[in-house]
Amino acid sequence: MKMKPYEHPPALYPYREWSLGEDTYEEEYNQRSESVFALGNGYIGMRGNFEEGYHGTAGTTVAGNYLNGFYDTEPVVYPEGAYGLPEVNQSMLNVTEARIIELEIEGYPFRLDSGKVHSCRRWLDMQTGLLHREVEWESPGGQRVKLAIRRMVSLRHKHLAAIDYAVTALNFAGTLQFVSALDGEIRRSEASADPRLGSGGARPSLLLEDSGYEEAAGVLWMRQRTRHTRFVLYTAASHRLQAASGRGLAPQLDGQRISAGYTAGVQCGETVILTKYITYYTSKDYPEEELQDRSAGVLKMAEGCGFNGLADEQRAYLDQFWAHTDVEIKGDPALQQGIRFNLFQLLQSTGRDGVTNIAAKGLTGEGYEGHYFWDTEMYMLPFFTYTQPEIARKLLEFRYATLDKARERAAVLSQKGALYPWRTIDGTENSAYFPAGTAQAHINADIAYGIKQYVQATGDVEFLVSRGAEILCETSRFWTDLGYFNPARGGAFCINGITGPDEYTAIVNNNAYTNLMVQDQLIYAYETVLLLQQEYPADYARLRQSIGLTEGEAEMWREAADRMFIPFDEQLGIYAQDDTFLSKRRWDFEQTPADKYPLLLHFHPLVIYRHQVLKQADLVMAMFLLGDKFRLVDKIRNYQYYEPLTTHDSSLSPCIHSIISAEIGDLAAAYGYFDRTVRMDLDDINRNAKDGLHMAAMAGSWMSIVNGFGGLRQVDGTLCFDPALPEQWQSFRFKVTARGQLLDVCIGSEAAVYTLLEGSGLQIRHRGQPVLLQPQQPVSLLLARQLEAVIFDLDGVIAGTAGLHDQAWQVLSDKKDAGCRQLLEQLTPADLLPGILELLDSLAQRGIACGLASASLNAPLLLQRLGIGSRFQAIADPAALQKGKPDAEIFLTAAELLGVPPQGCIGIEAAAAGIASIKAAGMLAVGIGSREQLGAADLLLPSTAELTVEKLLALFGRKV
Ligand code: BGC
Repeated sequence: MKMKPYEHPPALYPYREWSLGEDTYEEEYNQRSESVFALGNGYIGMRGNFEEGYHGTAGTTVAGNYLNGFYDTEPVVYPEGAYGLPEVNQSMLNVTEARIIELEIEGYPFRLDSGKVHSCRRWLDMQTGLLHREVEWESPGGQRVKLAIRRMVSLRHKHLAAIDYAVTALNFAGTLQFVSALDGEIRRSEASADPRLGSGGARPSLLLEDSGYEEAAGVLWMRQRTRHTRFVLYTAASHRLQAASGRGLAPQLDGQRISAGYTAGVQCGETVILTKYITYYTSKDYPEEELQDRSAGVLKMAEGCGFNGLADEQRAYLDQFWAHTDVEIKGDPALQQGIRFNLFQLLQSTGRDGVTNIAAKGLTGEGYEGHYFWDTEMYMLPFFTYTQPEIARKLLEFRYATLDKARERAAVLSQKGALYPWRTIDGTENSAYFPAGTAQAHINADIAYGIKQYVQATGDVEFLVSRGAEILCETSRFWTDLGYFNPARGGAFCINGITGPDEYTAIVNNNAYTNLMVQDQLIYAYETVLLLQQEYPADYARLRQSIGLTEGEAEMWREAADRMFIPFDEQLGIYAQDDTFLSKRRWDFEQTPADKYPLLLHFHPLVIYRHQVLKQADLVMAMFLLGDKFRLVDKIRNYQYYEPLTTHDSSLSPCIHSIISAEIGDLAAAYGYFDRTVRMDLDDINRNAKDGLHMAAMAGSWMSIVNGFGGLRQVDGTLCFDPALPEQWQSFRFKVTARGQLLDVCIGSEAAVYTLLEGSGLQIRHRGQPVLLQPQQPVSLLLARQLEAVIFDLDGVIAGTAGLHDQAWQVLSDKKDAGCRQLLEQLTPADLLPGILELLDSLAQRGIACGLASASLNAPLLLQRLGIGSRFQAIADPAALQKGKPDAEIFLTAAELLGVPPQGCIGIEAAAAGIASIKAAGMLAVGIGSREQLGAADLLLPSTAELTVEKLLALFGRKV
């Protein structure tokens, strides 16, 4: 489905570089704002709900507090079960609400739906990590107050959150009352037919065991136990009141809610502040009997620091984060805000203790029930690998920590080795719909890819040796057991009955993405075993012992990789998504109205599976991840085939299309896809931000910048850049960390500047050229491309005129010609078209190479007869090509033979198909002929006599 040029929607939140804010309160958008104003620290997540609770229309709020990895289970009821389907489903719990602060002013409760709201602002500051709310409110009795509320979830202290609640009396003297509460009677969101939401919880999952109030310490506490998993949750809050006079209120217990509070006298103009410190501890992390003491310790520490002290720590933490992570986009405030917001939310949602991970919606909502998917390794992990490698390691440690469960799962599926779950919290499979779940075995290869990328980027071989190798071996065993050398495919290694990343196609044989990724994994596993054998014999022995690795197993992986079957369609010249994809009927996009998207909500899966239609990048994803396995021409051709069939119904899709569009030279498309990804939640593009933020798309927007516009690829551990600046921007800048060295990359309109901010020296590549960076010595490299080569067609450009030779020419240039030697003999240099010889001379003088892209098999002979054979450094051989014009292949092949990137070439053609071929190759096109025929050319000349090197250079300069 061809994407229309993306039009930026009106701003839902004003564009600000370092913050996200709203200047009014609108009930209609409340749920969405709860998601985007979420705070978190990788463990605790709090949606942006108000301290006083919510008094709006039912269904417009989800009060949410989450703890990463803290879940309960419910049995999955299958009307028609089958062997090996998950029996229970895990859901991240919405835990006890601890933020409640109810304020009364002279007996009037402060609520946004009563009295008079004079002003109401809130903003999330991404530099300080604080959520602010400022309200000027007048009670029904006429007392006017100003509230300044600051909230944080501490990035330094995993179990701690804090609220600083300041009330200033603006026009009265009187009494304020604060009631602070813990409310444990929380349910998850309602069940829904939308598979992207949760299955809901019929009954409350948290059962009260005990609660209390310690008056001396001002601490409210509550102990609850989950219904099925039997985990203990210990929630506590302590309070500090800053007021000239105040006294405590008696605690109250009401069902699962416990409250206590204060009254305080206030003079006109005076401010009273209540600070509330909140902790969450669970028995998932510590023995039950320790929870209370641990909580008390942290609360004491927090009170000692005070809110401002904690805020200083928070700021310092974020200064460090941004110093390694910030992305700057000059000239585009909307996208600048978008990218920073995404990176900030990623930090907030990512588990970093080795036993938790990143849920699809982070800690911002209950969509996908807090489950972890392949999203982690393929989308989020690269961001952390290159900016916060210590967090990346923790994410991979999670996979190691759950390897046993993956082994068990493989056994259930009658397979050797280990199969990671498609969706999980604790490592067990939670996917009840196996065609788009367990069948996505590619997750094994995705994890392997993540390990390889991490180890190469960081040099953390210790991780590979101590943990990664075991994961690689066990998941490789799975593959060689699942796949087989198929006699019907000439003994090629085939993998059947799986689903690739595109969830609109299920249970197929030989999904190209999967087979390519498995091939890569098997080679890496083989190399890792060799590494251990040769350099870490003790670890090798340990591994052999612990997993029973046998002689010859690694060789078998290597052989399977070497003989891997990759489906390719010779006729179309593209990789087939799988064995049968190309034989299906194409989806009828013309007859599908906009309101029928996403298709998954409007069509039975079988209807979708029967068609050529994609939910998300599949082969296109492989072209990004395994770029060196594809020629540029394959990338272009595959992209042109699959992109129009892709609905992007998954938010994981546009960013990958942005990256490949940038690589094949379509910066406008790359920008459009990026725009759509980077503000997916801030503009609520998929209209479901209310259910939580799209973490993979957020991380994908980072990849669109760094891998897309920055052109970063890691080749055997070396960072290789091929940057390009979208015309909408003045410049952009990002940072990457590799092997402990911090690199700053700034791309402007003229030059790319690489600065090694930390480290001792780093070798990178810029557009293929090696560059050695020394600390603090910026290296500036011009971006303007030189015209390096001109690639000619023969017919109508070099020769082929009217009269005698016109006819001869037709015969001679015909591929089928064999007996035209006589006619050929008649050609002489005089048959060259006017201006060509002069042009060839001028090009040679300037050192600009010449190539030929002619479909004629006689071309070499013809050039010889015309006396210009030696002027051409490369002639694309049409017999060796898969496809003729208008396919890009012939021009790209000529460029490849010349060793020049397409962006350094101009192609010259006299036929429309030829112009199309040049454009598809990403080159500038010069047409010789009429506008009616060759209107798509970048420069049109009536005849070759007009063709001069100056005109070519001027055309090229325009592009630059
Ligand atoms: C996508 C999957 C993804 C999941 C969770 C689905 O819509 O198709 O690729 O893993 O969402 O983000």
